[in-house]
Amino acid sequence: MILAQDVVDKYGRILIASGIPLKREILNLLEKHEIVSVFIRKSKVENIQMESMEDVASMATRLKLISNVKDAFSKAYGIAEHLVVLQNYVEDVVHTLIKRKNVLLYLQDLDSASDYLFLHSVNVGLFSIVIGMAMNLPHEELCLLGMGGLLHDFGKTSISSEILNKQGQLTLAEFNEIKEHAAVGYKMLKTDAQLDYRIMFMALQHHERCNGSGYPWGILNDKIHHLARIVAVADVYDALTTDRVYRSRLSSFAAVQMINEGDRIHFDSHVIAAFNKVAIPYPIGCCVTLNHGKDGKVIGLNSMDLFRPIISTQQGMVNLLHEADLSIIATR
Ligand SMILES: [Fe+2]
Repeated sequence: MILAQDVVDKYGRILIASGIPLKREILNLLEKHEIVSVFIRKSKVENIQMESMEDVASMATRLKLISNVKDAFSKAYGIAEHLVVLQNYVEDVVHTLIKRKNVLLYLQDLDSASDYLFLHSVNVGLFSIVIGMAMNLPHEELCLLGMGGLLHDFGKTSISSEILNKQGQLTLAEFNEIKEHAAVGYKMLKTDAQLDYRIMFMALQHHERCNGSGYPWGILNDKIHHLARIVAVADVYDALTTDRVYRSRLSSFAAVQMINEGDRIHFDSHVIAAFNKVAIPYPIGCCVTLNHGKDGKVIGLNSMDLFRPIISTQQGMVNLLHEADLSIIATR
């Protein structure tokens, strides 16, 4: 809650200026001065409580996308004919999503025999669209993000499956070969298809990092295309939340936390702010411990703040959105 009007004492001196968030210390100050009511700024964003988590796209749509991405990737030097099909699917997905409210980064696990590469490409395409929506990007850029996500790892078709799926540690030479996929993907897309240059840039720059530690060029901040900065976050988030041959997936909270640790270092702050509006650190069904020592289970989400869900405890229901003194200290 944000204070809408200045709070003054009996002499007319301003005690607390408007615009200040009402944290515990401010409430204590109000109590000390025996001020029992204040004006609160009406929130422009209405909170919606969610009791279930809806997939970004239906299972049928994902399976069709996976199948079409697989076809496109298998014809490494004849992709153009597949692009129209992928473009139509992406436009359908964007059209459906912009009609929905509160679209979150959520996809049920897919028990698919498909290779990780195709599943990952589709997830990154869908997640990039959702983050782009949270940034209020125009329709055209949402479609570009979908295509950029689907094709971001296209260069991996040039890497042997032995290296891509290797269970043990990669040698330096193997790791360098994998790193080539960004530039190789760009070149392949450029020579083979009449693609929008921004889609090629997402393939080229999705491993660039804001502090210059990425590849292939090691460029900084706004030198990286703004759509590639979105695909970078979607790519890492999907990789962290998926089981791989060499490690198990992280919990939702750990993945969200890790992405946030990369804020301003690896990732663009505006993208991270949008990501935090749609990523679910505490999914419904997740068991948590609160700071007063009580255990509970997440039974609902608040669209205004996904870090403060609704918890069912043995003592009753607690909505963390309205309990400033309570917080989650652990998940199980
Ligand atoms: Fe990649």
